[in-house]
Amino acid sequence: MCGIVAYIGNRDAYPILIKGLHRLEYRGYDSAGICLLNEQLTIYKCKGKVSDLEHYVKAKNMAGHLGMAHTRWATHGEPNQVNAHPHYSQNKKLAIIHNGIIENYAPLRSELISRGYSFVSETDTEVLIHLIEDIMTNESVDLVEALRIALNQVIGAYAIVILSKDNPDMILAARKGSPMVIGIGKDEFFIASDATPIVEYTNNVVYMDDEEIAIIQKEKELKIITITNKRKTPYIEKLEISLNALEKEGFDHFMLKEIYEQPRSIRDSMRGRLHLDKGLVILGGIREYEQKLMNARRIIITACGTSWHAGLVGEYLIEELARIPVEVEYSSEFRYRNPVLSEEDVVIAISQSGETADTLAAIELAKSKGATVLGICNVVGSSIARATHAGVYTHAGPEIGVASTKAFTAQVAVLTLLALQIAQKKGTIPQSRFHQMLSELNVIPEKVEQTLAINEQIKKIANIYKDVKNSLYLGRGYNFPVALEGALKLKEISYIHAEGYPAAEMKHGPIALIDEYMPVVVIATRKGTYEKVISNIQEVKARKGKIIAIINTGDKTVQGLADHCIEIPETEEFLNPLLATIPLQLLSYHIAVMRNCNVDQPRNLAKSVTVE
Ligand code: F6R
Repeated sequence: MCGIVAYIGNRDAYPILIKGLHRLEYRGYDSAGICLLNEQLTIYKCKGKVSDLEHYVKAKNMAGHLGMAHTRWATHGEPNQVNAHPHYSQNKKLAIIHNGIIENYAPLRSELISRGYSFVSETDTEVLIHLIEDIMTNESVDLVEALRIALNQVIGAYAIVILSKDNPDMILAARKGSPMVIGIGKDEFFIASDATPIVEYTNNVVYMDDEEIAIIQKEKELKIITITNKRKTPYIEKLEISLNALEKEGFDHFMLKEIYEQPRSIRDSMRGRLHLDKGLVILGGIREYEQKLMNARRIIITACGTSWHAGLVGEYLIEELARIPVEVEYSSEFRYRNPVLSEEDVVIAISQSGETADTLAAIELAKSKGATVLGICNVVGSSIARATHAGVYTHAGPEIGVASTKAFTAQVAVLTLLALQIAQKKGTIPQSRFHQMLSELNVIPEKVEQTLAINEQIKKIANIYKDVKNSLYLGRGYNFPVALEGALKLKEISYIHAEGYPAAEMKHGPIALIDEYMPVVVIATRKGTYEKVISNIQEVKARKGKIIAIINTGDKTVQGLADHCIEIPETEEFLNPLLATIPLQLLSYHIAVMRNCNVDQPRNLAKSVTVE
């Protein structure tokens, strides 16, 4: 969602800010704006893309060593130039950019209107900057104190940056529930909503905590206070993102690059954790909680979207291998339904971004009820990684395409390791079988590599079905979450309606949709309920539906039934999702490209959903 970037130092701010906004484009947005402080606070903003903003300011004077910029994903007020950030205070001496939502903006706005303030935009953000001005004027306090007082009055989530005409060597930043990172260079600072705009300038960063205010002054030490006015010592961490990870590196789209990265990202997710020689799995991040997990009365997995699908695979894995009951909950439902939770429950929150508002809220709820909460996150230092008691990083590397691909398989790889680790400790799998399982998991990256070789064949299938209006995805057992994930990928990037179903459920309703125009993607790998899935294929064929089947290499039975077969290598049933997902990602990708859709930034979607 919204993106923030700001700079203070000796370089020209504009190129840093624009490049930073481009780096943040993947988060999803609908307008962009910039503010430079050069004697005056000058704001330029427009609806549309960062490139539109660049075009708009082309002939303007963009000089200045201090500035901030923003990409807005509309919440309060439509996406237009007026509602785009930055916003001025009434006296134009302050300007603000803001991610998040001020929930009590309506009463604050009425109060400010009654005190003579007028609003140009419909945003909740403008309320905050007028409030700060009002406090400075009426309480005769400086800007930092006014900001602190204002933040004690607002309810909601925010990551904000404020510039002040009267404080030309200072940037203020604050956060609550919305991420903010400060990069520390030599006599300069970079501020951003995630590390991607910072990484090419410095590896030293401070992740702000909730209810902190950073006072960032040129050539001075970073100062952090809380909104209750306590001084905090900034904790400097090292960034481990490589710049290459933020570039397309010859691929047409980030999504395609990320699909192709999966042999590496799955391997990285297992590195140092799967010890084939010793017959061991060790997830260092949750070592302290191993006993807790083994003795858990129940494991509850909470997540959204693709991460929720990974959670479903986790349910099958943990129940089958470690014999612990698992429930998988949408975070958005879990947080509002007063769930029964106790200290014997372990909650696992899964999130690529580590910033999903609903998942964060689910974590806080679970903690408040005494449950142990573990995280599986991709973004190091993210809010969810910090809000959980302990956790495991997926190490997939930055995922820039809005549609999640490599993060999903990395999450599944980590969940597989987790299930195996608990199983080994609990003794639910004989050691010899355990060894076989580890060996097969160890060769999965190579099998993913082999699976990627089907790309050209998938392109041809995509060309046949690119214009359909509806599609159905079916799978059973471990392949059921894969079907859900395949359907989600297709709808989010190609805007074709797609439904994922457990194959046997088809006859309870969706079968009514089947006719000669309906493509049905069936994951029909051998093992498990293979024979049953073949019956489901026959049911579709009897109604003239078109079958695209994901099969194991050389499966003549399904080849005799399906309209198209995509062959993937055979593996253990519990590892199937790591392979079967790949052709579905590629199918969605090619269909979306053929339909001229914006693959990396699909309409209306945001990469990290920081509002509920
Ligand atoms: C789908 C997708 C979304 C996310 C969901 C959760 O491709 O990207 O469905 O999976 O918004 O996001 P995270 O994993 O960041 O919590």
